[in-house]
This record gives sequence, C-alpha cells and structure tokens, in this order.
Amino acid sequence: MLISANLAIFGEIQEFNISLQDKILRFYQGEKNLTDMITIESPGKFWQDYELIDSGNFEKLERFGNYIMARPEPKAIWDKSLTDNDWNRMMHTRFRAGAGFGKSGKEDCGTWERRKKMDEQWYIKYNSTTPGLNFTLRLGLTSFKHVGVFPEQSSNWEFIYRQTRALVEKAEKEGLPKPKVLNLFAYTGAASLAAKAAGADVTHLDSVRQVVTWARGNMEASGLDNIRWILEDALKFARREAKRGNSYQGIILDPPAYGHGPDGEKWKLDECLNEMLKCVSAILAPKDSFLVLNLYSNGYSAVLGETIVKQTFCKDIEYKALDCGELALEDRFGKNLPLSIVVRLQR
Ligand SMILES: C[S@@+](CC[C@H](N)C(=O)[O-])C[C@H]1O[C@@H](n2cnc3c(N)ncnc32)[C@H](O)[C@@H]1O
Repeated sequence: MLISANLAIFGEIQEFNISLQDKILRFYQGEKNLTDMITIESPGKFWQDYELIDSGNFEKLERFGNYIMARPEPKAIWDKSLTDNDWNRMMHTRFRAGAGFGKSGKEDCGTWERRKKMDEQWYIKYNSTTPGLNFTLRLGLTSFKHVGVFPEQSSNWEFIYRQTRALVEKAEKEGLPKPKVLNLFAYTGAASLAAKAAGADVTHLDSVRQVVTWARGNMEASGLDNIRWILEDALKFARREAKRGNSYQGIILDPPAYGHGPDGEKWKLDECLNEMLKCVSAILAPKDSFLVLNLYSNGYSAVLGETIVKQTFCKDIEYKALDCGELALEDRFGKNLPLSIVVRLQR
C-alpha cells in the first residue's frame, strides 16, 4: 500500500529514525526513483527542554522547559492516551480559542487559562547531539496560540546546520568568503541561529517588527552575533535581490498560508508561492548551495512541494539531492502527529 505513495525520501537523516518498512521499500525500489514516504520522528529523546506528552481530541499537551501546556491541534483527530484528569493535573495553562479562531486562514485571538503558577516569559535550550549546534530561545504565551518556537522544525535545524557547516569548511579550505544564508519568513529565528552557529553570514527577514526583535533577543541569549535583520515583505525583498543579481548559498523559507508585509503587502501562499520560488531560484547559487522549503498549509502535500521545487530549481541544472517528506512529532505513546511538509534541495 505504501508503495503507491509517490514521495521521495530524505537523504540525510542521522538523529531521526527511518522505519524498517521504509528501509525495505528503499531497498526494493532502488535509491534513484524512490517512492516512499518518511516521517521524521520526535527529537524528544535528546532535546531535554521539549516533549510532546500526548495528543488527541484536537489538542496537544506539550512541555517546554518546566512548563506544560495544552493547545488546540486540528490534526490530532484521534483519542488522547491520557485521561482529562491527567491533562488537568499536569498542565500549567491551556489555550482556549476565541470564536472564529483559525477560520478563513486567519488566526484570531484566544486566551490562555492559567492552571498553575508560571512565568510570562521563559527560556529553553536546544542542545543537539550534533556538536556545535545549540542555542537558546525565549518563549512566551501569545494571543494567537504560538509560544515562539515550532519544535518539529528541529530536523530542519539539523539539516541547515550540517549543510552550512560543510559549506563553511569548504570555503575556509578554498580561501573563499563565508557562505551566505537567507532565512525568509524567519519568525523568532531558530533556523537563523542554526545557520549562524555553523558559521554562515546570515540574513533574517520577517515582516513583523516585534518578531524580529524577539529573534534578535534569541541571538543574544544564544551568545551569537552579527545576524543581518531585515523588516520587509519577503516577496518584495526576493524580487529586489534577484534584480540586483545577489546570491546566497543557503535559502530557507517557511511561508504562511496568509500574511502581510510591513506596508500591507498581501501574501497568499496559493497565489504567491510560484513567483516567490522563481525569485529564490534566481538568487540561489547554482553550485554548493541548499534550499529548505517548509509548508504548514493544510491541503499541501509533500508531492506538491517536490513538484514545484523540481519545476523551478532542477531544470537544466545539476543537483545532488532533492528530498521531501513530512515533519512530525511523536508523543509519549508512540502516536505521530504530522505538522508540516518539507522539501530540501542540495546543489
Ligand atoms: C510560520 S512562521 C515561520 C516559522 C519559522 N520558520 C520557525 O520555525 O520558527 C511565518 C512567519 O512569516 C512572517 N510573515 C508573514 N507574511 C510575511 C511577509 N509578507 N513577508 C515577510 N514575512 C512574513 C510572519 O511574521 C511569521 O513570523
């Protein structure tokens, strides 16, 4: 049954497990035209400051550092493993969505109901088993359900760090300038920190001033410096960089379904992604470079991501690997919660 799912496989997974079934499929189908799907498993085993405890009944129960919280999760369509009493006993806070929350692609406000004493803001560490990859993130409860980090992104941070590290080492050997990494729709900056920790020149772009300030605080808390901060509409910036003929060795983009630039520029994933990727393909170095495209939008599949990246980046140009799949978190009870799709290109 799995064989009919048309997806490529992640090339480089070290900290995250591939199931035996996937390995067998990989063997029978040959490495080249692989057509199975991989979920990246929970990083929880080594990431001490994060755990997906339980999921189900359209909610997830997570621990960030010392604090446990329940949040709405539309994809948790199965039953919880723990009882309601267990959840109530464990949680410090629970997010209650306001009427209309999440409708029409817009995340309306909700409220956090406090159950136990907790700080408004606190810090967590990402201590990878990959030497050199560690940083600190400030978290806080926002009125639109986010806390300042998307933990499932950790497998992207690992990929970005390893790719960037290899490019930095190559550049050092050849006496070339540091590789440049551009993070578009960069939010609180975990991916920027991974690239910076690996030694790249990092440009971090987001359209929301408070979010850029938050990211800068995360850089300082991580003992890193010299990230270039840009407050702008991502598409406008990418168009301009393409016109200027600038190029980057690494480009990361995690565009939302809907968003807007600082001057009210409208971002609609369905309508803008194709043009955005065309601009990005003009500024991604043709050799010794990588791309990470992450999509949270419901209804977008990894196949869709792979197709658009292949169309835009892989025609008449050599590449080392093109991988796509889903990012998921595994809860304590072995239930995998899929959260986003990702496409990774290596040239
Ligand atoms: C889903 S978040 C990215 C999460 C991030 N990759 C991470 O893992 O931490 C999307 C971000 O895009 C930003 N954004 C939305 N519309 C934008 C636009 N037109 N230009 C630039 N940034 C935008 C938002 O402010 C938000 O920070």
